[in-house]
Amino acid sequence: MLLLLLHRAVAPGFRQAYRLKSTPARLCIRACCTNDSFQPQRSSFTFSGDNSSTRGWRVMGTLLGLGAVLACHDQQCRASQESPRRYTREEVKSHSSPETGVWVTLGCEVFDITEFVDIHPGGASKLMLAAGGPLEPFWALYAVHNQPHVREILAQYKIGELSPDDKAPSILKTSDPYADDPIRHSALKVNTQRPFNAEPPPELLTENYITPNPIFFTRNHLPVPNVDPDTYRLNVVGPPGGQSLCLSLDDLYQFPKHEITVTLQCAGNRRSEMTQFKEVRGLEWSLGAISTARWAGARLCDVLAQAGYQLCETEAHVCFEGLDSDPTGTAYGASIPLARAMDPEAEVLLAYEMNGQPLPRDHGFPVRVVVPGVVGARHVKWLGKVSVEPEESFSHWQRRDYKGFSPSVDWDTVDFDSAPSIQELPIQSAITQPKEGETIGSGEVTVKGYAWSGGGRAVVRVDVSLDGGLTWQVAELEGEEQRARKAWAWRLWHLQAPLPAGIKELNIVCKAVDESYNVQPDTVAPIWNLRGVLNNAWHRVHVHVTP
Ligand code: MTE
Repeated sequence: MLLLLLHRAVAPGFRQAYRLKSTPARLCIRACCTNDSFQPQRSSFTFSGDNSSTRGWRVMGTLLGLGAVLACHDQQCRASQESPRRYTREEVKSHSSPETGVWVTLGCEVFDITEFVDIHPGGASKLMLAAGGPLEPFWALYAVHNQPHVREILAQYKIGELSPDDKAPSILKTSDPYADDPIRHSALKVNTQRPFNAEPPPELLTENYITPNPIFFTRNHLPVPNVDPDTYRLNVVGPPGGQSLCLSLDDLYQFPKHEITVTLQCAGNRRSEMTQFKEVRGLEWSLGAISTARWAGARLCDVLAQAGYQLCETEAHVCFEGLDSDPTGTAYGASIPLARAMDPEAEVLLAYEMNGQPLPRDHGFPVRVVVPGVVGARHVKWLGKVSVEPEESFSHWQRRDYKGFSPSVDWDTVDFDSAPSIQELPIQSAITQPKEGETIGSGEVTVKGYAWSGGGRAVVRVDVSLDGGLTWQVAELEGEEQRARKAWAWRLWHLQAPLPAGIKELNIVCKAVDESYNVQPDTVAPIWNLRGVLNNAWHRVHVHVTP
């Protein structure tokens, strides 16, 4: 344990030392001796509950390793003040396992990321794909990495540069996995281009109760697959002893066609407001990671019944796999409880139509899951496989993402297994007009927005304040009347209110109430979480009023 602490204390110092390339030796020594307060890091030297003799060997090994590391780092520390240490690609390639150390390159720079592998937010196995080679092909796919804060983290692990006379291998010229993505509407506010993530601007979002397909928000984790509808088959794995189904689109059309209006919301909707309070990891969604469409398709319960499934007493989950996959061939996946899938009242769809049209490619052509009242992440697009399992999907997006935590949990302490996956979403509302910082005319104000709650809970009221929450007025609800316990779609709302003469600014706030009398929290602080999901704090807009 002492060694573990010692390692924790000195390791960040080494990294600091690397960064201080041109600093004098005295600074370098100070950095090597510093404690780990400047950079929280989890040590890669962990002792799992093993027996004492193995532990003894590990302790000795760690001692020797630490000694070697100290010597080596000391040498490199001195070297770093002169010129960067040079490595060949062959040397980098020989560091591709935890035993040899894990090195990667980016451009001509070489990084020793051995310590970072276990704390890589996307999982160690994904990062190990790049071990011993260039990061570029992976960053081309997961373009979210190409950001200053990621480069900053990487910079801490820099150990040198590639020899200038070591020519780049031809595999660096990878083809663009996103080259075949569809063309998108120019009104969309793009969060990331690769993978494509975009939302409609607020002023368009609530123009129509049904969001037009071209501006429906898009949340993709991977390149969009190009599926041939003629050869498309949906594999529904049968129960033990039963038969699996292999359904063509025509086969799906034979099931009774079911049509419902459903609002889809990403768990990260309004993350940008959480970030303003305290930094989180994730795409900077504004308030548009939510949209509403009329979906049509076969009910999942009908398809599962045909495959021979019945509702059972024991816990089971319906796992979905998309046809989009990463370089390891791992598909996007998610799951919902079997009880929801088999409940005809829950109206879970295998949808092939969106607003009377075949699904657009970005939204899952030819077939996607639509799970009314549930977070967008479970509405698996480009559906390839359905199976019933005793446990939730093992997908990264089910187990290691889309979960909520206490504000006290950070990336060093988070235990993803301790929290349930997000399914039904909490009550939500936001203001789409006027916009933040806008200047409006005097006399009267019109405030517009949306409100929605998960689990089919109807929105019963939206309260609007023009003075930051001191006094409230009730907004008028618009849009489709919702069925009891099946309020799958949002309500749009508006408030027209006279303004007192001489008023110069308004602090507009909205909050909604659902049929279970769930209300939104007034600020982000108590619901802040490291992934920036589930932000449903009162939405606030500050505007100026012309005299
Ligand atoms: N399904 C697949 N196959 N791949 C994905 O990346 N993203 C999920 C879900 N289904 C995703 C997926 C997430 S996180 C959300 S919020 C919704 O799709 C977004 O659906 P949309 O792009 O049609 O709005």
